[in-house]
Amino acid sequence: MKKFVIATNNTHKIKEIANLAKGKIIFNSLNDIGCFESIPEEQDTLEGNAQQKARYIYEKYGVDCFADDTGLEVDVLNGEPGVFSARYAGENATFDDNVCKLLDNMTGKVNRNAKFRTVICLIENGKEIYFEGVCKGTITLTRRGNDGFGYDPIFLPYGYNKTFAEMHIEEKNTISHRALAITKLLNYLI
Ligand code: IMP
Repeated sequence: MKKFVIATNNTHKIKEIANLAKGKIIFNSLNDIGCFESIPEEQDTLEGNAQQKARYIYEKYGVDCFADDTGLEVDVLNGEPGVFSARYAGENATFDDNVCKLLDNMTGKVNRNAKFRTVICLIENGKEIYFEGVCKGTITLTRRGNDGFGYDPIFLPYGYNKTFAEMHIEEKNTISHRALAITKLLNYLI
């Protein structure tokens, strides 16, 4: 059976991927391979960061692996916060700080179109392949819902009356950027 390291220690992500793979692939975490250091992600694109993280693991540990990077891209803000989504309001910003800053920057904006985008970089036997998942929607005027994380309370996916934070995780996982990117990856691998 094929075996891959997921370049993350986020147990939620690992579980989500393992669930979708239905036991057809073995996934190891960074801890499983004895990697406890923080992996550099210093690029200015999602593709660049996913590549940097995957290459770091492949080159240092010599294992087939993949890494992902996600950002929320708002049309009227020229794609911001994008690759800076986690630290939009500063290096140690909380999810709430980032949401506040985004809502402030969207004050008075009529065009509220945005999309979440996930990029996965897979390295198998030294060959790099990219997979992308996109979920389009709009930025709400105020927060709605208590579930999820990050920008979920202000993201309304197209075709739904609920923000991501008002959805059950199972429902979000059928349409989310990350689930779409993972599904493409698994379709390629299985
Ligand atoms: P990461 O690359 O998965 O660590 O995501 C970077 C940042 O994007 C997170 O810190 C969140 O602020 C935001 N983000 C990523 N995925 C989601 C999501 O599904 N909902 C809301 N925010 C997200």
